[in-house]
Amino acid sequence: MIISVCSFKGGVAKSTTATHLAAYFQQKAPTLLVDGDINRSLLKWAARGKPPFKVVSEKQGVKYAPSHTHIIVDTAARPSFEELKELVDGCDLLVVPTSPEAWAIDATLEMTGELNRLGANYKILLTLVPPKPSKAEELVRDALTDAGLPLFKTSIRRLVVFQRAALNGLTVSQMSESYAGIAWSCYKAVGDEICGKKG
Ligand SMILES: Nc1ncnc2c1ncn2[C@@H]1O[C@H](COP(=O)(O)OP(=O)(O)O)[C@@H](O)[C@H]1O
Ligand SMILES: [Mg+2]
Repeated sequence: MIISVCSFKGGVAKSTTATHLAAYFQQKAPTLLVDGDINRSLLKWAARGKPPFKVVSEKQGVKYAPSHTHIIVDTAARPSFEELKELVDGCDLLVVPTSPEAWAIDATLEMTGELNRLGANYKILLTLVPPKPSKAEELVRDALTDAGLPLFKTSIRRLVVFQRAALNGLTVSQMSESYAGIAWSCYKAVGDEICGKKG
C-alpha cells in the first residue's frame, strides 16, 4: 500500500504521522519511508537514531520502492494544485493530519475542497489533541463529520513522549518510558483503521 501524508500547514504532526505509520506497517511487511519534504527532516531524524524501517529521499525512492511492500511518503507542506493532483494519483490513500486549532482546520478545509474536486481517497487525522478527550475535540469532530468529511475515529493525543522520541531519532514504539504505550496505541489504532480492523 502507498500512503502519502500531506497538509497545507506545517507543524500539524505530518512527519510524526509518517514515521509512526511506517512503524506500524513495518510490523506487517517491509516498509519504506520516503522523505519528500524539502527540509529533509526525516532523513535527519533517521540519522539521529535507529528506525526499524528504511528511510530514503524522494530521489532514492524509485530504487528502493520495488523491494518494499508498503511505502509511506512524507510530503512538503503547502502543495500547489498540480502537486496535489500528482500526489493523489501516486498513492492509494492520503492521510491529512490536522491539529484542532482554527488555523489548522481552515487549512484542512481548503485542502479537502481540492481533494474532493480531484476525487481523492483521503482521510483526516486529528493530531495534537489534549491528552484527555474534551468537549472542544468533540465539537471539531462533529463539525468535520457534519461537513461530510472522512475522519479517522482515532485522535492522536498530545504527549511529550512524541517530542522525546523525535529528538532521539526514534518512534514512540521504541520508547520504554511512561505514556509511550498510550502514544503508540494511538497510531496503532489508526493503522488498524487503515487495514480495516475493528478496534
Ligand atoms: N502527538 C504529539 N504530541 C506531542 N508533540 C507532538 C505530537 N506530534 C508531533 N509532535 C511534535 O510537534 C512538532 C511538529 O511535528 P511534526 O511531525 O514535525 O510536524 P510537521 O511535519 O507537520 O511540521 C514536533 O516537535 C513533534 O515532535
Ligand atoms: Mg515535517
